[in-house]
Amino acid sequence: MTALLDALRDRRAHVVIIGQGYVGLPVAMRAAEAGFRVTGFEVDPRRLAALRDGHSYVEDVPDSRLRAAIDAGYTATDSIGDLAGFDVAVISVPTPLREGTPDLSYVEQAAEQVCRVLRAGALVVLESTTYPGTTEELVGPILEGSGLAAGRDFHLGYSPERIDPGNARFTFENTPKVVSGVDEASLACVAEFYGALVDTVVPVGSCAEAELVKLLENTFRHVNIALVNELAMFAEDLGVDIWSAIDAASTKPFGYMRFTPGPGVGGHCLPVDPSYLSWRVRRTSGSAFRFVELANDVNEHMPDYVVSRIAAMLNKHERSVKGTRILLLGMAYKAGTSDWRESPSVVVAERLAALGASLRACDPHIPAVFTPGFDLVLEDFGPEALGAADLVVVLVDHPEFDPEVICAHAPLVFDAKAILRGREFRGEVL
Ligand SMILES: NC(=O)c1ccc[n+]([C@@H]2O[C@H](COP(=O)([O-])OP(=O)(O)OC[C@H]3O[C@@H](n4cnc5c(N)ncnc54)[C@H](O)[C@@H]3O)[C@@H](O)[C@H]2O)c1
Repeated sequence: MTALLDALRDRRAHVVIIGQGYVGLPVAMRAAEAGFRVTGFEVDPRRLAALRDGHSYVEDVPDSRLRAAIDAGYTATDSIGDLAGFDVAVISVPTPLREGTPDLSYVEQAAEQVCRVLRAGALVVLESTTYPGTTEELVGPILEGSGLAAGRDFHLGYSPERIDPGNARFTFENTPKVVSGVDEASLACVAEFYGALVDTVVPVGSCAEAELVKLLENTFRHVNIALVNELAMFAEDLGVDIWSAIDAASTKPFGYMRFTPGPGVGGHCLPVDPSYLSWRVRRTSGSAFRFVELANDVNEHMPDYVVSRIAAMLNKHERSVKGTRILLLGMAYKAGTSDWRESPSVVVAERLAALGASLRACDPHIPAVFTPGFDLVLEDFGPEALGAADLVVVLVDHPEFDPEVICAHAPLVFDAKAILRGREFRGEVL
């Protein structure tokens, strides 16, 4: 099966990427730039139409990059026939939670699609985030429905995605990529493929290990954010400035890593991935993964805590939430991204709306069509919007939210991201 290694080295390989989302599209772009013939397989008709028109819906992929990839031969399709004879298939489809339980139906469906066009000697890599065991216990057997055996007839591996949307310093290319395979030959092919796309590959001993790497990284982040969030609530009670304490602790050159409090965690990873791990742990050993459960509790409570601080602050100014014109700054789940899936800002908005606030919001990253499930008018950030509100709430530290402009025009502010710290303004920091 060394023919695949040769095809990868001289870029003759036909690469197909199943799912053209936040993860799959950047992989497809990079593979096209590396010189492979790339087909993006996407079932969402709106996304497919946009790709075919050269319009990207992923912020880290500008239209110019997509169009250059199209010129280099990239095509988007929803026809399985276009995948026939592929050399490498990467599966990057959603892995949500459904009532707290991993929903692997997208992965199953994608594997069934790949199975229909799988041929001997090809490589299949799963990139979706999932619990240890998925590649070998779920994806492998589905692909073997083709009559071909993983390892013996085709290669199979797992490589977790580490992209950080909106991060200009660490991109897909310069972030080391963990790679694994069901056997040595598979690992060699996975390493060869990603070695063509990124600066550094990090081979690990098994697919389950690579699956665990991703969940370890995200659980680490989830737990540490919960730690500073809980501390922020206690520091407020103690009358200590948590932000100054974090700044000072961050001067320690070893043994400490900086995390900052906020209105909660969102996006497709932190609220979801650790629960994949705790679900698997409970199912295998019957034990609770207490760190994950505690972190979930603390982080899920943060939007309510922010709302309680807002209500208390308004109370000091002899106002109620009801009837107050509140401008929310940032509806995405974090700075620099348009992704508002699981965004804590949406929960804060829901709670404030339920209390009778009159809400508006600014988010320069979110397109005009914003459908969080309730009425929320998005407007341009600037003196006019700030001045028309009774209260401005900073929920996301998007670089466009100029602290000077906020201080100059907002009558009252609750700053949940501490972007106004050290400046003169009327209001409070989380
Ligand atoms: N977004 C991130 O920052 C990030 C980072 C690391 C890992 N991940 C993981 O990567 C995976 C994908 O996440 P995402 O953010 O790209 O999701 P996404 O929803 O943006 O993209 C997934 C795409 O797959 C498509 N799709 C679903 N089923 C399909 C099928 N059977 N065939 C073809 N296309 C199909 C969907 O229409 C969608 O466009 C998830 O497991 C996620 O946890 C995401």
